[in-house]
Amino acid sequence: MSDIKDEFGPFDGRIWLNAAHQGPLPRSAVRAAEGAIADKVSPHRIDDADFQRVPQALKSVLAATVGVDPLEIILGNSTTYGLHLLAHGLEWRPGDEIVVVRGEFPATIVPWLWLEERGVTIREITPRRRPLSAEDLAGQLTSKSRLFCSSWVFSFSGEVIDVASLAAVCRSRGVLFVLNGSQGVGARVIDAAAAGVDAVTSCGFKWLCGPYGTGFCWIRPQILQQLGYRQDYWLTQIDQTDLRAGLDLQVRGDLGARRYDVFCTANFFNFVPWAAAVETLLTFGVGRAQVHNDSLVAQLIDQIDQHPRLRIVSPTSPGERSALVHLTHTDASRNRELHDHLGRNGIDAALRANLIRFSPHVYNDAAEIEHVTSSLLRIA
Ligand SMILES: Cc1ncc(COP(=O)(O)O)c(C=O)c1O
Repeated sequence: MSDIKDEFGPFDGRIWLNAAHQGPLPRSAVRAAEGAIADKVSPHRIDDADFQRVPQALKSVLAATVGVDPLEIILGNSTTYGLHLLAHGLEWRPGDEIVVVRGEFPATIVPWLWLEERGVTIREITPRRRPLSAEDLAGQLTSKSRLFCSSWVFSFSGEVIDVASLAAVCRSRGVLFVLNGSQGVGARVIDAAAAGVDAVTSCGFKWLCGPYGTGFCWIRPQILQQLGYRQDYWLTQIDQTDLRAGLDLQVRGDLGARRYDVFCTANFFNFVPWAAAVETLLTFGVGRAQVHNDSLVAQLIDQIDQHPRLRIVSPTSPGERSALVHLTHTDASRNRELHDHLGRNGIDAALRANLIRFSPHVYNDAAEIEHVTSSLLRIA
């Protein structure tokens, strides 16, 4: 691939710096989506085997983004999908505690909340220093803690947790570690199985540049076996070449992760383009994307830091920062005005918790960052 920038757009002359909200669909995925639509216009083109082939191909590329076995990938429709499986599938006892970190995105918390009806406590811990360190987590877990759920990269602050060290603490205390990877998968390298997490879940429509309504999760096989929640979908259960009718159908228990795939797993309009998008990212390389994005972040930080009235509030040091950069005017009441000014000038950033958030990805370049910072510095 010569220049990955050519694989994206057009952006109508605008600069999209908001992958943390939605990643744009690359052209490869647009072609794939057009193919899927053409197939549906002329359904004779859809082969029976496509119902297996499409999810399998998608699982192969997704598995490579988090370093796990494709057979262990569960296809969903969101980040929430995987958390929901765990919240409803694990066996809970009254008094159990689920630990989350203060400042979390709602998706990391909401799926667990119904468990309060079962006597489970959802406990929010405040790190002594952000991001939460292994030592701090070790001090805040109790004998009741059953599960720790955290974002990998925090949407509202840009901070990144050290997955492996927190996983080691959880492992040593018999606490499950569930990672919300939505703001990292596709933009940062991770080997989830080796890092020691018990599950990772992600949406597909941010850094993985897929359509909205996509997501996946990986659950460590030993934990998957413990799920008491049954999800039996006919197309997963049977071999399509052997369609039979009647009550001689038996529910198979040997399907592993496949059993928990979202229903209508060969979701052609979403999964065909999503697989193409992930393939494009993998061809470029997630490691390369991480380096590329970090150099744009370094440029943003350097240039914004020079302004006396602008302050970066997300982590800035090379080992600690992510591709999410949050900043504020020293008079924070001006942040909305600055954000709107950028928008009127063709620069798409986010305003979250009254902070301006930039999140560059592979299709952005240094010239764009230069344009953004000069536009911002002029009016700040
Ligand atoms: C950390 C994080 N998790 C999850 C989501 C989305 O959750 P879902 O895919 O369940 O809609 C977002 C953003 O929309 C997010 O920033």
